[in-house]
Amino acid sequence: MRFIVLTLFPNMFEAFVNTSIIKRTIEKDICSIEVIDIRKFTKDKHNRVDFPPFGGGRGMILSCQPLAAAIDFSIEKLKSKSKKDVDIIYLSPRGKVLNYNLCKDIASSDKNYILICGHYEGIDERIIEEYNVTEISIGDYVLTGGELASQVLLDSVIRLLPGALTEGSLDEESHTNNLLEYPQYTKPVEFRGRKVPDILLSGHHKKISEYRKNESIRITKKYRPDFLNNK
Ligand code: ADE
Repeated sequence: MRFIVLTLFPNMFEAFVNTSIIKRTIEKDICSIEVIDIRKFTKDKHNRVDFPPFGGGRGMILSCQPLAAAIDFSIEKLKSKSKKDVDIIYLSPRGKVLNYNLCKDIASSDKNYILICGHYEGIDERIIEEYNVTEISIGDYVLTGGELASQVLLDSVIRLLPGALTEGSLDEESHTNNLLEYPQYTKPVEFRGRKVPDILLSGHHKKISEYRKNESIRITKKYRPDFLNNK
């Protein structure tokens, strides 16, 4: 799966693409992430990319020209490398909220993606119409820009791509089957007087599995009772 990220702050992606599992998936060619600076596409003589909104109001709006040029360039680049469809996502607090199902839909989509990171007060609405852009939010709060949001989307999708994680590691994680993950323990057996539950040391696999299922239900009731009601 190929991703092109359009941003005014490419340096925010340097650590992200060069660390841990994301780095490994890129090295294994499970995905690619190309980060492109929107500013390189501006034709403005002062190198500007944003202007105040028509009608008045706060902040600055990312204008059509540099963004459209960056999108056209990215579509062409993706199409030259693969026949797959290209979807364009704009990370925005007004978008559909990202959850595990949406991550799975993207991961299994057999498409390539352009991710637009906005800054300031947003992007010109005509870009959204012209390119049939899907808006995705990572939660009901407002960030100063879409860069962190796009990294959240990339991270949560890429780990679901076949081969990204060792087989089986997704089976019992939080959000699979609408349940949150059970508590986990490792060495030592006792820490500040707190012992690991005996059952986990018993070697009795069936009982451990029952215990973990009940703990998952307990944690889900505590933090996300809505998951149990939606079943
Ligand atoms: N940009 C600013 N806030 C955002 C959010 N909550 N989700 C996605 N992109 C954003």
